[in-house]
Amino acid sequence: MYEKIQETASWLRQRMTTSPTTAIILGTGLGQLASEITDKKEIPYAEIPNFPVSTVEGHSGKLIFGKLGGVDILAMQGRFHYYEGYSMKEVTFPIRVMYELGIKTLFVSNAAGGMNPQFNIGDLMIITDHINFFPEHPLRGKNYPTGPRFPDMHETYDKNLIQLAANIAYEKKIRVKFGVYIGLQGPTFETPAEYKMYHMMGADAVGMSTVPEVIVAHHCGIRTFGISVITDLGGFDNPVEVSHEEVQEAANAAQPFMTEIMREMIVRSEKVTSQKQENFNTDHPTEKWK
Ligand code: HPA
Repeated sequence: MYEKIQETASWLRQRMTTSPTTAIILGTGLGQLASEITDKKEIPYAEIPNFPVSTVEGHSGKLIFGKLGGVDILAMQGRFHYYEGYSMKEVTFPIRVMYELGIKTLFVSNAAGGMNPQFNIGDLMIITDHINFFPEHPLRGKNYPTGPRFPDMHETYDKNLIQLAANIAYEKKIRVKFGVYIGLQGPTFETPAEYKMYHMMGADAVGMSTVPEVIVAHHCGIRTFGISVITDLGGFDNPVEVSHEEVQEAANAAQPFMTEIMREMIVRSEKVTSQKQENFNTDHPTEKWK
């Protein structure tokens, strides 16, 4: 696998005209951001040696090299989900390649079900931490030399980037929530009892992505930042059915806010150091915008 990562990275290096240090996974809620990227060079996943092959017809993804607000970026349009049948090594392969290409900061977005009773559909939740509930660990097997065998996970989501997002949201009067994301394999949504259980375990939102990519990025020393758009609610006394269409609809409605925060984050984050910040307080004033 290590040789494959190197091979893919050098193939891409030959085609890159910029040297981005920032990457973004355009998950649910961030499609719009792709249209704001300028000086684009798009490479379909199908053309990239060793990249996982898309299982969903008409859903083929691509890598985009370009500029966002003057910053060189690498964007992944379309990600690989574990529920689609990919192995964890495949799901996280692009992150390993990003590291080889010199990526230092990764932004991710996703759609998630809200379990915190203070959440509403359409809310944006800045991810402060996660619970890995996937059945297979992305670092299982021979350790890659990018990080230790037993990585510390205390600050998986960069505190300075969280603070920056909180500041941007406050400035732009965008209401944001903070919380813990639990990553599960899917593809079922949760039963009411499961939503309740995951909330009792300490999670505020549940989804089927992000955690594997973030673990591998962390193992590579890439600082990460993530936002969930809360597309449905579960675990309350009044259970409501969830459908893929509703998830899409809620994500689309929240899209302009998500896009605005992410764009600003990318532009400003270059100036933020990843120094540890003690006593970070997630009870930011933006909580009071409601
Ligand atoms: N559960 C799991 N994944 C999801 C959900 C959910 O409720 N909503 C969007 N993705």
